[in-house]
Amino acid sequence: MRSKIPYFIMIPSILSVIIFIFYIFLGIENRSYIIHPITIFFLIIITILLFILDSINNLIYRKKLQFLTKEKRKKIIEENEGNYFYIFYKFLFHDTKKMNQNVKKIDHGFDGIIELDNKLPMWWIHLFYLTIIFSGIYFFSYLLTDFSDPYKEYIFDYQNQLKKIEIFEKNTPQVTLINAEFKKEFVKNGKTLFEENCATCHQSDGSGNIGPNLTDNYWINITEKDLFKNIFSIIWNGSVNNPTMRAFGKSGEIKGNDIQKISSYVYFINTKLKKPIKNKAPQGKKIINWNKI
Ligand code: HEC
Repeated sequence: MRSKIPYFIMIPSILSVIIFIFYIFLGIENRSYIIHPITIFFLIIITILLFILDSINNLIYRKKLQFLTKEKRKKIIEENEGNYFYIFYKFLFHDTKKMNQNVKKIDHGFDGIIELDNKLPMWWIHLFYLTIIFSGIYFFSYLLTDFSDPYKEYIFDYQNQLKKIEIFEKNTPQVTLINAEFKKEFVKNGKTLFEENCATCHQSDGSGNIGPNLTDNYWINITEKDLFKNIFSIIWNGSVNNPTMRAFGKSGEIKGNDIQKISSYVYFINTKLKKPIKNKAPQGKKIINWNKI
């Protein structure tokens, strides 16, 4: 008679296997259905059935015991009753030294080495079986289902991300010229955006190329009474004199929040004391004090 597994081990294990199977076969899009009322109801029914099965098993176990001799019965009761965890522990961590006392010796013959045919500890063997079983499950579910398919997971996450961005943009109003302000924490992001959108004409350090030097105190376009707002305004509206500097904001090419970041970067490199070594010659009017315009 085999030793029986107590219900508090058996039922959670079977339930987790079932949930795992659900997880594999539902596919990425439907994984959230694991916590759907129908699946929960199904799992509850399974739990009840497992409890019933366990009590039937117990009945059979008791009945079988009655037909055994006294000694055998005592032995089985000793093996099965008592603390399950302790029994399990004893099973896994058998005293291997004792087990391997009178072990067979294998003579290789040709090299004179004599090998002991030691038995491996139970925990090792069972871990090994477990990995074999798992690799089989993993292999087939990887081949046949969405389970841990990195490409599908990537596409799924990417599309989710796009949806989230769309919702975020709908709910958060973009900054405009009226409420835009310089923030030091925007400078880092602003630099990246500047490099992507502006560096071709202004250089990534703002020293100027086709477009003017943005790190000096000379300005061609002056529409605002504040340096930061002036920068924001030019990026938003473009230059009236020269269409090469296009209206990034008005045309929708760059959103208000990003223009605030880019403006913060331009403001930062303009007000910083350290200027680039190579500069484009000054263009426009020199402005030292923006308050006095
Ligand atoms: C295709 C080239 C080009 C690109 C790209 C470009 N600019 Fe310009 N930018 C210019 C030119 C040319 C001017 C000069 C306009 C004028 O003469 O009025 C200018 C002017 C400016 C000015 C005003 C300078 C002044 O003295 O009045 C600022 C600020 C500025 N650009 C920032 C930016 C930022 C920020 C970006 C990126 C979002 C950007 N530019 C992208 C070509 C460009």
